[in-house]
Amino acid sequence: MKIAIVGSGYVGLVTEPVLPKSELMSFVSTLIKKKIDNLKNGIIPIFEPGLDDMVHRNMKKGRLSFTTSITEAIADAEVLFIAVGTPPDEDGSADLKYVLSVARDCGRNMNDYLLIVTKSTVPVGTATKVRDAVQDELNKRKVSIEFDVASNPEFLKEGAAIDDFLKPDRIVIGLNSLRAEELMKESI
Ligand SMILES: NC(=O)c1ccc[n+]([C@@H]2O[C@H](COP(=O)([O-])OP(=O)(O)OC[C@H]3O[C@@H](n4cnc5c(N)ncnc54)[C@H](O)[C@@H]3O)[C@@H](O)[C@H]2O)c1
Repeated sequence: MKIAIVGSGYVGLVTEPVLPKSELMSFVSTLIKKKIDNLKNGIIPIFEPGLDDMVHRNMKKGRLSFTTSITEAIADAEVLFIAVGTPPDEDGSADLKYVLSVARDCGRNMNDYLLIVTKSTVPVGTATKVRDAVQDELNKRKVSIEFDVASNPEFLKEGAAIDDFLKPDRIVIGLNSLRAEELMKESI
């Protein structure tokens, strides 16, 4: 199964190499070309015990790739994790512009069923906004493509992120279709 992860910050970077432990292929996209160029050359922008080794091992096995192209990331992917930042808005609430921009990218680029999972920290009601943004882009293209939206918030702590990811004290998943449930079971 191919998994795409959008956002190569802390959460995206830790999720990427951990997921391909099972027979998965993950593709990661971010906006910053320099960062992706560095990652392609094995330069990891954060320090997490064990992360360098995991990234290099999975890149060598061809299970992990980096790209700045959302089209490339989405091509053949069944699941796409959104792990972009949600900085505080002027009133202190999470700014969803990056999350919704990825949702629109999905609607513009997907050609087959896609499960879109928010890993970013987002308020209740975000899944509906993500769904509406994707559907709006599909409507503009005048195409009908099935998709699901799920929520899987991340609780990792910087400095112990890989351990937290591999041995989480809780996993929270919100979804509303059997297909999404099966894919989530396979993915994480
Ligand atoms: N860092 C943590 O310890 C932690 C823990 C739990 C949850 N979270 C949550 O996870 C989310 C991500 O956090 P982070 O610390 O990884 O953020 P970050 O700011 O370090 O990284 C976000 C990344 O997303 C990329 N990005 C933004 N918009 C994009 C787009 N449209 N297309 C492609 N890439 C895009 C940015 O270039 C950046 O690389 C946030 O919602 C945060 O609250 C973070």
